Amino acid sequence: MPVATYEQYCKMMDTAYANHYAFPAINVFDMESINGVLAGLAEAHSDGIIQMSFGGAQHASGTLKDMYLGALALANHVHLMAEKYNIFVALHTDHCQNDKVDTFMIPLIEETERRRAAGLPNLFNSHMFDGSALPHKENVKIAKGLLERCAKSQLVLEVEAGVVGGEEDGVIGMGECADPDECKAIADLGVTMLAAGIGNIHGKYPENWAGLSFETLDAIQQKTGDMPLVLHGGTGIPDDMIKKAISLGVAKINVNTECQLVFAEATRKYI
Ligand code: 13P
Repeated sequence: MPVATYEQYCKMMDTAYANHYAFPAINVFDMESINGVLAGLAEAHSDGIIQMSFGGAQHASGTLKDMYLGALALANHVHLMAEKYNIFVALHTDHCQNDKVDTFMIPLIEETERRRAAGLPNLFNSHMFDGSALPHKENVKIAKGLLERCAKSQLVLEVEAGVVGGEEDGVIGMGECADPDECKAIADLGVTMLAAGIGNIHGKYPENWAGLSFETLDAIQQKTGDMPLVLHGGTGIPDDMIKKAISLGVAKINVNTECQLVFAEATRKYI
């Protein structure tokens, strides 16, 4: 199938949320990882989301280390290959901190704007703005501007509140539970995808990890109303916690580290 349209993507998320299931959002960084995700989704007869961090995108551009060009190459590969699979995939960019907005997210939005003007489908379905390390008011202000820009091109914006712990792309977060009132302020902007920290972290979970905070998740859901939530740090969360998180409104679950570990292990075995 061609990459999902805006309408199909919204329907995917709304239906998952309403029926208590979640889509896997898998990070990719090269052609092989994309092909693997497409094959895995097709084998599971599941629609899904393919996403890339700025680091994954930089990697895809080789020594150029150009996150915009790398993302363009990866997204175009997805557009070409997805056509051949009998499932829907949506394309998303992962954490974009404030200092990367002008070099990562905006050029990709501009590319979608150019494509739309030429009658072509959007390059991506959604982008994530991660202003969680900023003061709340600044996070909200920047998210508002980006939301307005994205809405003009039928792009969904994921916004983060409460820092996800662990390390991704060299960005280290402490891991904290988001303030439900801050989540509500973000939801009130018209955001339809909220990533809220609930004790989750990127990478492997340490032995002494306290687990997900379902009280926080519940409180956020009560405050924000009907909104699909995003659970980052999907690697290593026990199944029962995943199921409970989904029952409390999580409709997108990000997985990155697990795939890299499996890939590294398979490569090691082959060599
Ligand atoms: P893991 O690397 O822990 O799977 O987390 C992925 C993620 O949240 C990407 O944003």
